[in-house]
Amino acid sequence: MNFHIERAIRVSRRLLDNYAGLHEPEEKLIADAQLFWSGLSNAGRDGGPAHWRGQSIFEDDARWWGIGANNLRIFEQMAGANWLRERPRRLLDWGCGGGTCAVHFAPGAAAYYGLDITEASLGECERQMLAHGLGNFRPVLVPAANPEQALVQVLEPLDLVLSTYVFELLPSQDYGRRVLQVMLEMLAPGGLAFVQIKYTTRHLNSRSYRWGYAKNLGNMTTYYLEEFWELATACGFTPLLLHLEPRQPLNNDSHFGYFLLQKKSE
Ligand SMILES: C[S@@+](CC[C@H](N)C(=O)[O-])C[C@H]1O[C@@H](n2cnc3c(N)ncnc32)[C@H](O)[C@@H]1O
Repeated sequence: MNFHIERAIRVSRRLLDNYAGLHEPEEKLIADAQLFWSGLSNAGRDGGPAHWRGQSIFEDDARWWGIGANNLRIFEQMAGANWLRERPRRLLDWGCGGGTCAVHFAPGAAAYYGLDITEASLGECERQMLAHGLGNFRPVLVPAANPEQALVQVLEPLDLVLSTYVFELLPSQDYGRRVLQVMLEMLAPGGLAFVQIKYTTRHLNSRSYRWGYAKNLGNMTTYYLEEFWELATACGFTPLLLHLEPRQPLNNDSHFGYFLLQKKSE
């Protein structure tokens, strides 16, 4: 289709979506998300969207390494430089993809659970961890339709649940709430959640799309900053800190908010 016509259709659709509240049904978005992520592989479609090393923009190894290193830097700024090393921690990485965070957060961990909706990303994450001498990986495969399945797969309480470059890809805010509730339940009292979201700005195209998953996945679900703070609170977390990254040159994207949340100590 002619580029200009396609763009005009997309812009009109976005206006309708955001002003008239037209969205695709949750079940369709969930099914489309599963289809999209399951289609990635080293042999077939490019694993770049799942941040696999050596694929698309991550052919540049400095980007792949740097994106996880940046997440660790922000976490340590928020939680303290020694938090991960104080004692061997049990961590879970929600949407671990190709292991960009794993290789930085897993050293010294008692267990590093990588959760994803595809076997392919779990395999790639494990490959990268082994390549970095890390043998503490525990794969957790859940279907997109049922994030609550994580609760029957991880039976020990966790110290930290992290999730980066994932919440904006989730089908809806309601789905994001389900994930936060599961995270809370998985954590030990006093445990931390380190969650990155994409935030809504005054610009129309920064709002949640909630249609056309494969085309719009990078902006599928966004939040006003205070909206996510309040959502986390409503789920039972105590939000501690917020860090903003208006631009991220490592993946040419923008408007990331990192929240450090805590489960109440008993
Ligand atoms: C952009 S990658 C992010 C990878 C990694 N977290 C990082 O920061 O580089 C998104 C990953 O989230 C996974 N994903 C998509 N929907 C998910 C869901 N509902 N629950 C868990 N993981 C999901 C994808 O399969 C993919 O591996």
